[in-house]
Amino acid sequence: MTDAELIEHAVTARALAYAPYSDFAVGAALLVADGRIFTGCNIENASYGLAMCAERVALFKAVSEGIRGFSRIALVADTESPISPCGACRQVLWEFAPDLMVVSANLKGQVRVQPLRELLPEPFDGRML
Ligand code: THU
Repeated sequence: MTDAELIEHAVTARALAYAPYSDFAVGAALLVADGRIFTGCNIENASYGLAMCAERVALFKAVSEGIRGFSRIALVADTESPISPCGACRQVLWEFAPDLMVVSANLKGQVRVQPLRELLPEPFDGRML
């Protein structure tokens, strides 16, 4: 699975975004070590604070089906530079995949690949409890 292919899955998922309030559609594609892919899109609500990001939709779909062992996640939005995942998603991804690589892209074909460890350098996690 190349990053270009993973990004294509995120682009396809983005088409299903429900974002009538922000008009900002996001797609995500989460790659499992065994090659499976779980996709997600952002899902908003008239009660704005209940919006759910694409990354967490993809992660929760996978985890709720008993899947672990994530290696990469691709994110796509129509942004000037490759989209940066929100802080809440960084934290939630960290819980299940501290070694995750984050492949961010925009519709212009720009791509940035960063370790989640760099995006969330001082995570809160179960070791602190
Ligand atoms: N959004 C995501 O889906 N992922 C992110 O990492 C950033 C933000 C969504 C949430 C909301 O539906 C819209 O983008 C605008 O914030």
